[in-house]
Amino acid sequence: MSAGNLKYKDESWDFRSANTKEYTHCFHTYPAMMIPQIARKLLAKYGTEGGWLLDPYCGTGTSLVEASLFGMHSVGCDINPLVRLIATAKTAPVCLQTLDETLSQLNDHLFQIEFQDGKIPDAPIPNILNLEYWFSEEVIRCLAYLRTWINKVEDEAVRNFILVAFSETVREVSYTRNGEFKLYRMPAEKIDGFKPDVFGIFGKKLSRNRHGVAAFLEKRKSVEVSVSGVNTVQGELPMPRPLGGYDLVITSPPYGDSHTTVAYGQFSRLAAEWIGLPNARKIDKLAMGGQHSKEILKDSPISSAVDKIRLIDEKRAREVSAFYADLGRSINSIAQVLSLRATICYVVGNRQVKGVLLPTDEFVVDAFRQRGFTHKVTIVRNIPNKRMPKKNSPSNVAGKTATTMHEENIVICQRTTHTC
Ligand SMILES: C[S@@+](CC[C@H](N)C(=O)[O-])C[C@H]1O[C@@H](n2cnc3c(N)ncnc32)[C@H](O)[C@@H]1O
Repeated sequence: MSAGNLKYKDESWDFRSANTKEYTHCFHTYPAMMIPQIARKLLAKYGTEGGWLLDPYCGTGTSLVEASLFGMHSVGCDINPLVRLIATAKTAPVCLQTLDETLSQLNDHLFQIEFQDGKIPDAPIPNILNLEYWFSEEVIRCLAYLRTWINKVEDEAVRNFILVAFSETVREVSYTRNGEFKLYRMPAEKIDGFKPDVFGIFGKKLSRNRHGVAAFLEKRKSVEVSVSGVNTVQGELPMPRPLGGYDLVITSPPYGDSHTTVAYGQFSRLAAEWIGLPNARKIDKLAMGGQHSKEILKDSPISSAVDKIRLIDEKRAREVSAFYADLGRSINSIAQVLSLRATICYVVGNRQVKGVLLPTDEFVVDAFRQRGFTHKVTIVRNIPNKRMPKKNSPSNVAGKTATTMHEENIVICQRTTHTC
């Protein structure tokens, strides 16, 4: 890196052959997950044992798990209740003995069903729109039985652990197409032959996650973790608020609005509906950039890119602008709860819309600079294994796709002056 150049590529952050499924990181897939090794390396560099970490878009809780292993208390926020459930389960100090007793009872029940007459006991079917469009009658009966059984588990941490395996099972046994994050149904010719072994799939996930949680419990430090639905875009402030403020932010915000980048809500919808979580069909609208706005951002590092997009497509320019306006509002809320020497690490992608590159990394640096932070460095890494859709729709035309980015930026800034 040349002196004065604060942005550089560093392949040691690619973690090409790293195992990204250690500990509770194996629990559940999700689009655009952060890989644990990034959070781990950032914690080793900027973390303080006993301090507080904030992840304002925590998703499935990668940063929170790593903070627990490192020894920092952590708070995560996400508008998606399904990932809040996953992040909570991944970081909970579940009692292994209670978990094992419950899993053994469950196993006995499933064994009895399978080896007696194979008849699945009747259980109430949830009222989900178009249920038969996404699941076969047999699968619906199995899932309904499991759901009723799980809801009777009294220990909350154990129930959440089992629900997470149930959630992944729902997706896998549905007619959704493999490898798609959006809700697309598999072709008709495949549906007839699709007969998933619901209990078998569910059992394998439980056993995989049981290994993961044992490894996590062995290594986790005695720290607090809290996950909530706080939406910093709307000025809500994360809780609890540590005295003196949060010391470190490690986060990966969405790349853009859910409509044209990653549809987190569509990915989560079927599982969220089966579990009975709120707003299952509204997540993509609630997410950053999900609301239409007439606002066009001025004097910002993304302004000239937005002006170029505007020459091609006025509506797209407004959508893009709405996303960055939300990101700016969120940074404003976050800056209010950070300590006097806080470090922020934002993992962001610079995507293209209508062939125009949007410098999200520069937007983040500028927004934090205005709130008393100094830009330390931006590390550019290749994305060899981030679970991203290979294609997205930057033109916003159904079926018209372009390859998503292969690099991301880790923006690091430190507070040097207090602005409030
Ligand atoms: C890139 S993902 C985070 C993935 C996470 N780092 C992980 O490893 O699982 C971005 C997350 O931001 C969430 N999100 C979008 N808008 C939000 C908002 N206004 N407030 C909080 N979370 C939001 C989405 O639901 C999504 O889970």
